[in-house]
Amino acid sequence: MEERYMLEMSGITKSFGGIKALNGVDFKVRRGEIHALIGENGAGKSTLMKILSGAYLPDEGEIRIDGQLCDIAAPIDARRYGVGIIYQEFQLIPSLSVAENIFIGAFPYKAAGTVIDWKKLRGDARAALSHIGFDIDVSTQVSDLSVAYQQMIEITKALNKKVRILVLDEPTSVLAPNEVEKLFDVMRSLRGEGVTMIYISHKLEELFTICDSVTVMKDGAYVGTGETADMTKDQLISMMIGRKLDAMFPMRKPLERDETVLEVNGLSSGVNHDCSIFVRRGEIVGLSGLVGSGRTELVRAIFGADAMTAGEILLEGRRVSIKNPRNAVKLGIGLIPEDRKRHGVILNKSIRQNTTMAAVNKIVNMGVIKGSEEKRAATELVEKLRTKTPSVESDVGDLSGGNQQKVVLAKWIFSDSKVMIFDEPTRGVDVGAKSEIYQIISELAESGKGVIVISSEMEEIIGLCDRVYVMHEGRITGMVSGDEITEDTLMRYAIE
Ligand SMILES: Nc1ncnc2c1ncn2[C@@H]1O[C@H](COP(=O)(O)OP(=O)(O)OP(=O)(O)O)[C@@H](O)[C@H]1O
Ligand SMILES: [Mg+2]
Repeated sequence: MEERYMLEMSGITKSFGGIKALNGVDFKVRRGEIHALIGENGAGKSTLMKILSGAYLPDEGEIRIDGQLCDIAAPIDARRYGVGIIYQEFQLIPSLSVAENIFIGAFPYKAAGTVIDWKKLRGDARAALSHIGFDIDVSTQVSDLSVAYQQMIEITKALNKKVRILVLDEPTSVLAPNEVEKLFDVMRSLRGEGVTMIYISHKLEELFTICDSVTVMKDGAYVGTGETADMTKDQLISMMIGRKLDAMFPMRKPLERDETVLEVNGLSSGVNHDCSIFVRRGEIVGLSGLVGSGRTELVRAIFGADAMTAGEILLEGRRVSIKNPRNAVKLGIGLIPEDRKRHGVILNKSIRQNTTMAAVNKIVNMGVIKGSEEKRAATELVEKLRTKTPSVESDVGDLSGGNQQKVVLAKWIFSDSKVMIFDEPTRGVDVGAKSEIYQIISELAESGKGVIVISSEMEEIIGLCDRVYVMHEGRITGMVSGDEITEDTLMRYAIE
């Protein structure tokens, strides 16, 4: 009987300070299956997998791999047992090239033994990438890649080692649909080769496509396991959040005014060429397109984070010069970035400080921050977004991935900008929080702000936006509104 399981984790308990992140969790995975591990933000999924990979030591519990009791005290032990993991937060070294990152710690040497064989390194890296169907120049420095491409490098790097159990912690949250398909192909072929996989994702549809079975966790505890084929999405949601979810997307009052708040004419920057868009007050405008189509670059230029080489920006009808993000924030433009680690939050500062960071003036009285108001504002947003944390004084760095994302949102919601730009706002957040975020974005629009949403999730664009611009290779290829916003039209313009 025991032999059926490739992995058995039992009675796993782990506390951080006084907080019990895992409480006697049992988790079993059969040989050669793709097993989904799901649960709300902060449920303990990543912590459980970090124990398997030797990044954390459990306080209690035991791990068996292929029936054998394992002593995993460090990452190197886990690798020895054949455990590979793709972490939720990138582990790449930004200053090194793609090829160097893929083979870090295992560079090929020339016959003499001391000189790195760069030609072989690059060749092997190219082969590893093309094995899983990705095409990137391997000498590119990783810091110059978008998050989607960085994720591809992570995947390649993990697959490159000989693994029996491969853990993928939210690998698709930054990928576009066509890239997700590619990843699934790779996973299917790995399953064919007998690799057992554990798959963490908040995109429940994906589980039905790729996973054989699923385990649900909640509040650091095991809830249940079942065959994916026997479960429905609604069942999984109520197991995860302990309640039924109403409509995912809120109904919004139609626009009454027709005032343009932001107008961008003929903007060129980096890869983008001659982009023109406008946003009305109270309107949610989507930016759709494949990863790399120029969406993030466009909003970064509007926000002053990248230089414009041509074009003009008008805010409430007046031409403005935005030289840097500080200008943009002052003028009332907020950008909630996709890469929260680099641009969104300060990890070693508290939730309270991060929340008010972009608009400290709102709570300053004669040069002094009013601590009680700051705390109240931060607490309110923690409750509204259901951020899982012991207190607003906790460092953002100690939160789970999805909860960090919620702090980024809190920061910009607090800032009260005229134009709010959200770049992949629900990446990595659980279904319950997703619908809360849609509600908040919708309320921001109703209160008269102009909202821009970049999303790779079609469902999100269709459910949330009044009007959508589609981009392809740095140009705007189409604009659709209302009922015209369908998967078909968006896809057609995206690959045009
Ligand atoms: N290093 C740490 N120090 C303190 N608390 C931590 C640490 N790592 C995790 N936690 C806490 O443990 C709990 C579980 O976090 P974990 O990252 O495992 O959640 P998760 O299920 O992966 O969530 P998400 O879907 O948001 O990634 C959270 O409450 C988190 O704040
Ligand atoms: Mg996690």
